[in-house]
Amino acid sequence: ESTHVVVIGAGPAGLTLANLLRSAGVGCVVLERQSRSYVERRQRAGVLDHASTRVFEEWGLADAVLAGTPEDRAIEIRVDGEPHVLDLRALSGGRTGRAVPQQVIVARLMAAFQDGGGDLRFDAGEVTPHGIDGAGPTVTYRDPAGTLHEIACDYIAGCDGHHGVTRASVPAQAMTTYSYDHGIGWFTVLADAPPPRLPLFAISSHGFAAQFPRGPAACRLYLECAPDDVPDDWNDERIWKQARLRLGDDALPAGPITEKGVVEMRSFVADPMRYGRLFLVGDAAHIITPMGGKGMNLAIADADVLARALRAALHDGDEEPLAAYSATCLRKVWNQQEFSRWLTEMMHESGDAALAGSFRRQLARARLDRLFTSEPAARAVADLLAGG
Ligand code: APR
Repeated sequence: ESTHVVVIGAGPAGLTLANLLRSAGVGCVVLERQSRSYVERRQRAGVLDHASTRVFEEWGLADAVLAGTPEDRAIEIRVDGEPHVLDLRALSGGRTGRAVPQQVIVARLMAAFQDGGGDLRFDAGEVTPHGIDGAGPTVTYRDPAGTLHEIACDYIAGCDGHHGVTRASVPAQAMTTYSYDHGIGWFTVLADAPPPRLPLFAISSHGFAAQFPRGPAACRLYLECAPDDVPDDWNDERIWKQARLRLGDDALPAGPITEKGVVEMRSFVADPMRYGRLFLVGDAAHIITPMGGKGMNLAIADADVLARALRAALHDGDEEPLAAYSATCLRKVWNQQEFSRWLTEMMHESGDAALAGSFRRQLARARLDRLFTSEPAARAVADLLAGG
């Protein structure tokens, strides 16, 4: 069996890439370790930035992916109970994104790929790339019946997330990795409770909190916590009490909690995002904190760059764009890592009770205040939220 590209992993990165390759007329097979229902149910991100909406538009997938999704037009930053709205639509010159839960995008990408005859294989065990530094790589895997398969290909796309097999198959000396621990934890829940009118960031001495819509009848809450907190430290009563306190809203409606967890506030970047005929895409190459909402969007941006480069290599014999893949992606990745870190520091240090009376806290407050008083400063944030 052979194909042009084997895509390993069917998260946002792999599914986007698979659709773009199909639009480009490049053959691919997608191998996913988990079951279809597992992939469909996984809930994480909730915003497609403007750059991502452009990717789907430019590849003719706007109807399939974006139809009916609401515009992400503004955010609220609430400081000690006082609301400040950043009108992203105005500040970005209309370059808004869409508020849409990840599982909606994933379901639509899967349907679009498979309706067009795409080859997507779930429950693929022991997926292993071979010969990535040579001219003829292969990928082996075991199907659910226990049969071993081998697929020969021209290129392999490692879209298998932070703990996948592809980055691990690159010799350590061939890659520089950068990691950063932000030293804070975010306890997060998904709740079947009314979403806020706008994505909401709240700063107060009680600790940072955020509440984001996840569709019309659900929301995600993030509550700053100790990095070593475990979900069991947070019962429903504590969750809603802290949410009300930190959001400064005594009447905040509660609802059944459907998922809880502690998010590791860690960042990671691998450079280069390529080794031989293996290209890393999305979380396989880099992870970013949820602050700024860029994890899924960087994955989509990588997929766009790689799909164009593979099309050039396979259809036109032009390998230049593939040679530039890593540097092109990493410029955007580092830009967004810096933004995410900047936002994280500002949002946490402006409220942090432990920093009360300190120089750092005053600096963080000055950064915040600048967003509400200087239009160029607010425009810069809106530009980064749009995806640069
Ligand atoms: N073989 C096959 N598939 C694998 C393997 C493996 N060895 N290891 C992992 N996978 C699959 C996982 O089951 C998962 O479906 O690869 C997929 C990776 O998906 P994600 O972890 O979601 O990574 P990515 O697609 O890069 O998504 C990027 O989307 O969820 C948001 O914000 C989140 O930053 C994240 C972004």
